[in-house]
Amino acid sequence: MNDRELMELAQKARETSYSPYSRFRVGAALLTKSGKVYTGCNIENASYPATVCAERTAIFKAVSEGEKEFEALAIVGGREGETADFCAPCGVCRQVVAEFCPPAFKILLGNPAKFKAYTLEMLLPLSFTGSDL
Ligand code: THU
Repeated sequence: MNDRELMELAQKARETSYSPYSRFRVGAALLTKSGKVYTGCNIENASYPATVCAERTAIFKAVSEGEKEFEALAIVGGREGETADFCAPCGVCRQVVAEFCPPAFKILLGNPAKFKAYTLEMLLPLSFTGSDL
């Protein structure tokens, strides 16, 4: 599984986004160290705070299946009807990634045709984690 293939899976996961309120559709694909991929989309709710982002859907699916060792996360998002360009993960999702992944963990942002690799540390510097407790 190369980076572009992971981005393609994130793009595919975006198709099932349930986002009638924001009309902003996001897909995520999480590659485990064992080579499996868990995908997720954003799932909104009429009670807006009950919404869950695509990244957390993917992470929670994986963790609930017993996976906790991750290699990379790809994120593809954008307005409904538009080609996804660039979608940065929200702060809550960055914090959830930090719960399971080291600072050097790879996060791919953009779309399958044009994307860039970041590290978790770049997106969440000076993070607060379990090792602080
Ligand atoms: N959203 C995600 O799923 N991931 C992100 O990285 C940013 C935002 C969703 C949440 C909500 O359904 C919609 O995008 C607008 O905020």
